[in-house]
Amino acid sequence: MFSEKQKVIHINDECVQDLKDSFSIYVRTFKHGDKELQHNIVLKEEHTKRVCLEILNIGEQLGLNEDYLRLAEIIAQFHDIGRFEQYARYGTFMDRQSENHAELGVTILKRIGILNQLEKSTKNLIFRTIQYHNRAVLPQEETETCLFFAKLLRDADKIDIWRVVTDYYHQKNFKRNGAIELGLPDTPGFSDAVYQDLINKKIVDMKNIKNLNDFRLLQIGWIFDINFEPTLYAVCSRRYLEMIRDALPKSGKIDQIFSIIDSYLDKRVKQ
Ligand SMILES: [Fe+2]
Repeated sequence: MFSEKQKVIHINDECVQDLKDSFSIYVRTFKHGDKELQHNIVLKEEHTKRVCLEILNIGEQLGLNEDYLRLAEIIAQFHDIGRFEQYARYGTFMDRQSENHAELGVTILKRIGILNQLEKSTKNLIFRTIQYHNRAVLPQEETETCLFFAKLLRDADKIDIWRVVTDYYHQKNFKRNGAIELGLPDTPGFSDAVYQDLINKKIVDMKNIKNLNDFRLLQIGWIFDINFEPTLYAVCSRRYLEMIRDALPKSGKIDQIFSIIDSYLDKRVKQ
């Protein structure tokens, strides 16, 4: 999997279980107060559980050994630890209106010392992958191992955010949640800058997001930032993009975006 000479990482099952227990205890400290806060804390807790499953699923398909799978699981377990304090303090998951949740997560991990039982180099690797997980682009000056796990985490995270948003768009008794919609207005149409990004097979720049349709298109554009084939295969077989499309207006420009995505996927996914 890695061409560079790597220090062997050893993590046992007991350690993973220990860390998961500590995570639950930490999250429990946020489970009080108003209903909306509770709901959003549980939403992120459930997201975390599923990202752990997704990262293992992708990692297994890529043939990772047991130690790397356990490392991947720990990274997934803690990647969004900043979200709980973020919501409790600011009442939003919008980094722009509060603070960068990845950086906050690393600060919290260091503050509470939850990963101190791990070897220093492993702990630092986890901090760095978490720190990079929400960046527009990954840094170039990093080790191959770190970049690999950062890519793995970003794939697993996106897969589950697709699941969260598609569940949300298709819920039976539609109940709006400003935390998922990032407080964006549900106005008609979408921005030309967003459309331009997508037809150029680029991920959508967050600064161009003006309404909910732009945000849905941004979610569709994540397909251009998927790193591994098993992830692409999962997106296709679960039909996430089609489900988001159902929530968008019918338009020739949307058809054009989807035909570009179809040919992109045809090239990247072996059927
Ligand atoms: Fe996440």
